[in-house]
Amino acid sequence: MNTNAKQLNNTPDGEDRFSALISNSSAVRALAASVEGTLGPKGLNCMLVDRFGGVTITNDGSTILSRVEANHPAAGMLVQAAEAQDAEVGDGTTTTAVLAGALLSEGVEQIMRGVPVAKVIEGMRAGIVRALEVIDSLTKEVSGFDDPLLWQAAYISARGMKDIADLVVEAARLAGMEQLRECGWHLAEIVEAEEGAKNQVFSGLIIKKERLNRMMPRSIDNARVLVIDDSLEPEHLEDDALGTESGFSRYMAIQEEFKESVNKIVKLGIGLVVAHKSVSDAAEEILTDAGVMVIRRASSRDIIRIAEHTGAKIIKRTGLSRTPQEIQEFLGACARVYGDERLEHTRIEGGQGRPAATILVGAATREVKEERERIARDAASAVQSVLLSGVVPGGGAAEIAAAREILALRDETGGMASYGVDCVTEALRRPLSQIVTNAGFNPLEKVEDVIAAQSEKRCASLGINCDTGEVSDMYALGVVDPAKVKTAAICTAAEIAEAILRINVIIKRRDNTPVAPHADIPAGG
Ligand SMILES: Nc1ncnc2c1ncn2[C@@H]1O[C@H](COP(=O)(O)OP(=O)(O)OP(=O)(O)O)[C@@H](O)[C@H]1O
Ligand SMILES: [Mg+2]
Repeated sequence: MNTNAKQLNNTPDGEDRFSALISNSSAVRALAASVEGTLGPKGLNCMLVDRFGGVTITNDGSTILSRVEANHPAAGMLVQAAEAQDAEVGDGTTTTAVLAGALLSEGVEQIMRGVPVAKVIEGMRAGIVRALEVIDSLTKEVSGFDDPLLWQAAYISARGMKDIADLVVEAARLAGMEQLRECGWHLAEIVEAEEGAKNQVFSGLIIKKERLNRMMPRSIDNARVLVIDDSLEPEHLEDDALGTESGFSRYMAIQEEFKESVNKIVKLGIGLVVAHKSVSDAAEEILTDAGVMVIRRASSRDIIRIAEHTGAKIIKRTGLSRTPQEIQEFLGACARVYGDERLEHTRIEGGQGRPAATILVGAATREVKEERERIARDAASAVQSVLLSGVVPGGGAAEIAAAREILALRDETGGMASYGVDCVTEALRRPLSQIVTNAGFNPLEKVEDVIAAQSEKRCASLGINCDTGEVSDMYALGVVDPAKVKTAAICTAAEIAEAILRINVIIKRRDNTPVAPHADIPAGG
């Protein structure tokens, strides 16, 4: 197969039978190396520069991986894995990359020693299953919003930013367990960051749009809300039609009908009109005179959010020809809508539909704003994960506990597959090793210290205090991670490592051959 492939691609001679494996694993390791320096409390930042000189400074693994120019297909697979981790749990992307890079390099080493790929994968799978069981057994549930472990997990995920930890825990409380449990609802999505804003959590929405003109009221209490997924314009007539007498009469009739529709809005006492597209001058004039607030060109996402929160049913422009009684059925309501001219946004609070909360994160500059927004999103994801899945000791301690348990599995497994188990043991030592390296300590020494201390004291929460370098209890230090973030990181890393280890040969595809998205990663192998 390799020979055929070389003939097909005219690959130069001299490549050994592991060329695909080596090329893929080098690319993944190089990419993992670009983020590992950011891991943990003493991790440094990465400065991403685009070709126009645009700069992003960040510590967030998913931001780095999603923006890095990764030309190698295997590196692209790691980027996809990081994105999958981010979409599923919203945090732990650097840990995923570090684990994937380590699993892969360990796997490649074993294969090059002569262990069959199938045996490496068999052992890896067994090791991963045991690791997940250990993480599960270490998991502590939190008792609710007031459990100190919840705040600690937020604080750790927020990289020690106390104000952000406070904000996200308060927002979770406001959102309530029912909403937090809802599949597809993410606390991270309610985070908004703005330059010059004050940190705040409130029940309601922020729409990044201002009212149509400043003669419209800036604030309305107890507003009825009309949401139009369309323009608020009269029906358009072709220019040709206007040239005829009947066409002109039709035009005049349309203008009259339109004015009547707009007057219905006024008579119904509607306070806020939100349109997805443009609003005509005639409508603007009537609605301004009547003291109605209008927001135009709201995004589709905002249209849906406003309708859900205020309980409005979205209407099309033609729907305005209905009777006022019928239009009433489409109206929503909110306790208050007001425009913040300094922050150039509009807030809708106390809607009578589905409850909504917003986490507003203030920042001094644009760069800081973006990073604070990312950190708040990570922390919000962590809080939601902790409430749903509990916590495990952080700082790489849980991974070390799993690695210790897997040593016993190695003896049970026996045969060639035990080399695959070794890959998992080694990989699970990497997060602690990287965290202490980034904190300026010797990783070999510290990892061994932790393994010895955990075994001796039979305590899985022992890790390294990154300030002093001493072995310490992670619970006592308040260093905890969401269990779901940890298990998802292990699963995602294992999936990508296995997929890459299975690639035996790389063949150049003819250009433009359509390929199904993610065809490169077979589910479960
Ligand atoms: N004070 C601390 N002492 C020890 N370990 C810590 C401390 N604070 C955080 N950690 C550990 O650092 C790791 C998380 O680091 P980091 O947030 O940089 O990466 P990540 O969550 O894997 O990826 P992302 O870039 O998506 O946030 C976790 O294992 C966490 O327990
Ligand atoms: Mg993190």
